[in-house]
Amino acid sequence: MMPAVTQSPVTESSLADAAWFIRLSGLEPVAGGAESHIFVRPGKPSQLIKVHHDRHIEALASSRAIKNRIRRWRGIGPHKTFLRQNRAYLEATLRAAELDRAPPLAHLRGVLLTDLGLGVVVQKIRDRSGEMAPTLFQLARDGRIDDEIIAALTLFARELSTFRIIGNDLNAGNLVYETRHARARIVLIEGYGSRNLIPLRRWSKRINDRSLSRRLEKLANSVGLTWNARDWSFSA
Ligand SMILES: Nc1ncnc2c1ncn2[C@@H]1O[C@H](COP(=O)(O)OP(=O)(O)OP(=O)(O)O)[C@@H](O)[C@H]1O
Ligand SMILES: [Mg+2]
Repeated sequence: MMPAVTQSPVTESSLADAAWFIRLSGLEPVAGGAESHIFVRPGKPSQLIKVHHDRHIEALASSRAIKNRIRRWRGIGPHKTFLRQNRAYLEATLRAAELDRAPPLAHLRGVLLTDLGLGVVVQKIRDRSGEMAPTLFQLARDGRIDDEIIAALTLFARELSTFRIIGNDLNAGNLVYETRHARARIVLIEGYGSRNLIPLRRWSKRINDRSLSRRLEKLANSVGLTWNARDWSFSA
């Protein structure tokens, strides 16, 4: 007979010792969006932890709109977003093996429990000096979009298509300009992965390209650039 396992109760500190839990309250967020707070991972400055505002989830949970009822039925909140994004990330990683180059995405490093809720761990995209890379939104606001950035945007757009990445939210705040590794490139930090019941854009590259092109045009307009759908490029 196996001896009975005497198990100590799971506590915050036992989770923390096993690196499943991190305390974030009291730390200063380095960024925040409409949906989340963003912290540098304690002890790992190359990573960020994103924690979603409960407010957002609560609003969704109580919304009576049909769209949100369907979202509720299919599962809501950061968990759903996390699963969707991870699936797309996995598919992009497999394409990276085929294409022998990196997809234009920030690495996803998994999840941790935090005292502020579920924390999604991501690679911190950085600039030359090791600071958080600027978003395209910030670059546009500061009038810093130059030819090099426009060229990087064109390459980014073409890589989205080649890697068959499904864009949901290609707003300028979700694109960052990485200049860390002697290369300059635009990286998508979130807002991708199929969220449709019938994932046409996943099945058909043509349908995905059409949708990407529409979204890239909107993105271009939002930062004062032109999107050329014919040759799949940005210009000033
Ligand atoms: N991987 C990353 N590397 C560098 N900066 C990042 C990264 N992830 C997030 N950021 C910074 O944090 C900001 C907010 O991140 P993110 O877009 O993921 O959160 P959000 O709450 O969903 O924002 P929103 O809903 O407003 O788009 C970004 O605009 C960017 O400045
Ligand atoms: Mg965002």
